[in-house]
Amino acid sequence: MKLKTQNLLALDELSKKEFNGVIDYAIKLKKEFKKSGNSPILKNKSLTMIFQKPSTRTRISFEIGMTQLGGTVVNLSSNDMQLSRGETIEDTAKTLSRYTDCIMARVYDHSILENLAKNATIPVINGLSDSYHPCQILADFVTIKEKKKKISGLKIAWIGDGNNVCNSMLIGAGLAGCKISIATPKGFEPFKNIVKNVSALTDVELTNDPSRTIADADVVVTDTFDSIHNTDKNRIKKFLPKFQVNSKLMTLANSDAIFMHCLPAKRDQEVTSSVIDGPQSVVWDEAENRLHSQKALLASLIRA
Ligand code: CP
Ligand code: NVA
Repeated sequence: MKLKTQNLLALDELSKKEFNGVIDYAIKLKKEFKKSGNSPILKNKSLTMIFQKPSTRTRISFEIGMTQLGGTVVNLSSNDMQLSRGETIEDTAKTLSRYTDCIMARVYDHSILENLAKNATIPVINGLSDSYHPCQILADFVTIKEKKKKISGLKIAWIGDGNNVCNSMLIGAGLAGCKISIATPKGFEPFKNIVKNVSALTDVELTNDPSRTIADADVVVTDTFDSIHNTDKNRIKKFLPKFQVNSKLMTLANSDAIFMHCLPAKRDQEVTSSVIDGPQSVVWDEAENRLHSQKALLASLIRA
């Protein structure tokens, strides 16, 4: 699956066809992997990962995924690089382009990724920035397609913080042709420009009312109220108890609705254990699908 874009910093770099193509490719690679393992299509290729923030899923799924496709991985905390002593992003991007075939970076400020991409001659992948988390949403739509057998026409309910993952979910909904309703406290909405752009593609509703948002939903999604980049520890109080996904709220969604969360979860804050451990939750498949969707992405971006 060849992509027009060199990088994946945000999902709006993909066309609808490419977005759906990567999802289908991920499902194919997953089936192949479960049956007999993947072919070493990235043999002699390498991925360099840079982390400014902690990670469990992103780090491990990229490393294992690249290895399962026959490639190798270098993993670095930005503190261990000369970046921490003032080497510029520009010089880092140029240097890495001489060694490796792809950069995946998890950063605070999204402009760091843009600067890396501008100065690298190899693909740059966003492994989460304060603004977006495109790799998570690729995995989420793989999961939705597996569980619901389709994605177009479904209703997604996002409840809680209109954060980086929400921005990417919104773009994903537009590409997938899903309706999306987002319930946040006032002042915690997703980016205005994304809302505007996606509204031209599909039905987008912003509310402050989780009951309205979850009504008739096929997919219910939340995320932490306390993202890594947040500094205001009092912000959680602005979400509780109204924006918690609990069993009572879940009864308002369609009876066959699935519950999703990118993880890590703060149990009994944004979601109760009864929901995340309950029969509608697909969070472990969702976490697993990071592996398969990122393999599809890596194989699509790292050209022979
Ligand atoms: N969902 C996700 O990106 O998890 P990590 O922060 O553990 O990578
Ligand atoms: N919104 C969360 C996602 C973590 C995977 C954060 O940015 O910390």
